[in-house]
Amino acid sequence: MENISKVTHIESVRLSDDGTCVVIIDQTQLPNRTEYLELSSAEDIWDAIYTLKVRGAPAIGICAAYGIYCLALQIRETDYDRFLCEFRKKKAYLDSSRPTAVNLSWALNRMERAVLADRSKDVGEILELLKAESLKIHREDIDMCKAISEYGLSLIKDGDGILTHCNAGPLATSRYGTGQGPLFLGKERGMNFRVYADETRPLLRGARLTSYELQKAGIDVTLICDNMASIVMKNGWVQACMVGCDRVAANGDTANKIGTSGVAILAKYYGIPFYVLGPTSTIDMNCKSGEDIHIELREPEEIKEKFYQEPVALKDVKCYNPSFDVTDHSLITAIVTEKGVCYPPYTESLAKLF
Ligand code: MRU
Repeated sequence: MENISKVTHIESVRLSDDGTCVVIIDQTQLPNRTEYLELSSAEDIWDAIYTLKVRGAPAIGICAAYGIYCLALQIRETDYDRFLCEFRKKKAYLDSSRPTAVNLSWALNRMERAVLADRSKDVGEILELLKAESLKIHREDIDMCKAISEYGLSLIKDGDGILTHCNAGPLATSRYGTGQGPLFLGKERGMNFRVYADETRPLLRGARLTSYELQKAGIDVTLICDNMASIVMKNGWVQACMVGCDRVAANGDTANKIGTSGVAILAKYYGIPFYVLGPTSTIDMNCKSGEDIHIELREPEEIKEKFYQEPVALKDVKCYNPSFDVTDHSLITAIVTEKGVCYPPYTESLAKLF
């Protein structure tokens, strides 16, 4: 077992020491290799987000904030309007890398507001403002994850069995994480949980990332295939489900990794509380319901080829590969944010947060 703070303080995204590029842990290489990448071109940043080298809604937002700052440093215009025009082109490009997690556009919009705040400033001063804003977005995420973990921990007891889906730990965020944050915080305080980590097909974020983080932190984790969630619930081994989120609509409908809604349906059947944990930056009050959430569709190769020595299906078999699904608000026991725990009706409790 490694020291738990080595896991909770892992920096999956940061600004390089010389402040010119974004440094990320390449999450596609875990758990076998810990490789750091330095991203400085728009194409490299876009590609790192699209190919999931950096992933998890909050981490994507932080990467985009640092990324657009580094790209702004490369703009050669000194005239404000021309600078703004170039900035907006780069912002739109990064924003096109993934559609579902709202944190991407949320962070980029915050960065744009820093440029728009005072048009009388010269470009050098604007760059300073951008740097400060990107660091602030990162610092705020650290604080939010801690607060979410505290609130989440208040919902579970020592010795509980917790089922997780996908990865919403330190790699996907800053420090403790969201969906898995209470487990790390509880461990720090001497509590013991039995965690069942869904492997999370197709790209195995639960197997590669969640079980890796939890085991390294000395937390009792059992990896299960996605189709085993029902049996562990039926056996009475699960007292709560905890997941992260990519976009929460105003009515509480929640987009998270594909398969999350199935876990919520099972939890309802077995009478197990189902908790969604995420920062208020993941709540999109412009989406009335899950109907308004754009679900990313990804390549068939993720189902047929990735992570296997040989293809596991016919090359030309038709595939459907949605990266997320929406869990209906009626299946969610509570939504845990850094500002507190929201219970149904979510149209009222979420609105009160803003
Ligand atoms: O496709 P990913 O790996 O970016 O999807 C990640 C998830 O679905 C997470 O559960 C969510 O972003 C919350 S991360 C704190």
